[in-house]
Amino acid sequence: MTLGLGTLRSMLFVPGDSPKKLAKGDGAGADALILDLEDSVAPSQKAQARELVPAYMAERPPGARSSQLWVRINPLDGEYALADLAAVVAASPDGIMLPKADGPAEVQRLSYYLDALEAQAGLAAGSVGILPVATETAKAPFQLGGYADAGLARLRGLTWGAEDLSAAIGASTNLDARGEWTLTYRMARSLTLLAAHAARVQAIETLYVDYADDAGLRESCRRAREEGFTGRIAIHPAQVAGINESFTPSAAEIDHARRVVEAFERAAGAGVVGLDGKMLDRPHLTQANAVLAASAAYSRR
Ligand code: COA
Ligand code: MG
Repeated sequence: MTLGLGTLRSMLFVPGDSPKKLAKGDGAGADALILDLEDSVAPSQKAQARELVPAYMAERPPGARSSQLWVRINPLDGEYALADLAAVVAASPDGIMLPKADGPAEVQRLSYYLDALEAQAGLAAGSVGILPVATETAKAPFQLGGYADAGLARLRGLTWGAEDLSAAIGASTNLDARGEWTLTYRMARSLTLLAAHAARVQAIETLYVDYADDAGLRESCRRAREEGFTGRIAIHPAQVAGINESFTPSAAEIDHARRVVEAFERAAGAGVVGLDGKMLDRPHLTQANAVLAASAAYSRR
């Protein structure tokens, strides 16, 4: 993927019906807030959230935002989604998170709605991005490969979720005896990772539920990043620092990446070089360039 300035490490969920939590979002240090209208908001509170969230965004117009402001709407096939979109788009969200997305065709439908709502609000065409939660229905994992060739210009990333998928398939657990994801969820996660890279967008790791366990979060983030995820969902402000730090290249990684690039420069034209007694070929150079691009993007924050 190309790591631009818009690349997101941490995306913090904030329940959209809570003025107190919305106010806390400003200082959380997240690359993005996800102002939630879906599952963290009870049906009786949906209407209130639909007023609070656009008001919050309107008070923080693009250019005056300390974090990107995304909105998680309700599922597209349910009773709330169109009213959600009609309420929030004029306040210029940086993007819409689409839960329980069945696949690229549904994201395309959302994109058409956004075309119309952007035009109505006088926003630049295509300015609102989309991040589907791409594994929350039984159909969804089978559609993941389709994101790469669906021509979805608004697609900024793919993320995955285990809890709704469990509910969708009648599973009473998604963890094995050691507390690791069972095969179904590991498979959904891996396919999301591959699909995001195939579509050249961000691969966003799912949330870490134990928000008091900072060491566990950091270890889990380290592994996710080593596997190719570039950012993560947060559910509590205390998780933001650990996520940001885990997904930012360290000084040692940057130093190593520079040395890899230099080794290839010295051996101009060579497909393979040696460094510190180890063989390096083109994939190592690609990886080193990705580390340097990420580092440059984040140091401009
Ligand atoms: N965004 C902004 N502020 C938050 C927050 C969040 N996601 N989670 C907690 N806070 C605030 C609390 O309001 C509290 O503020 P205070 O110090 O002014 O009282 C402070 O941070 C510390 O919170 P804490 O007491 O540790 O947690 P809590 O019991 O208030 O809340 C949760 C725990 C899980 C309910 C809460 O973190 C939350 O709502 N998370 C988001 C859930 C969500 O959106 N889920 C949808 C995706 S699955
Ligand atoms: Mg959910």
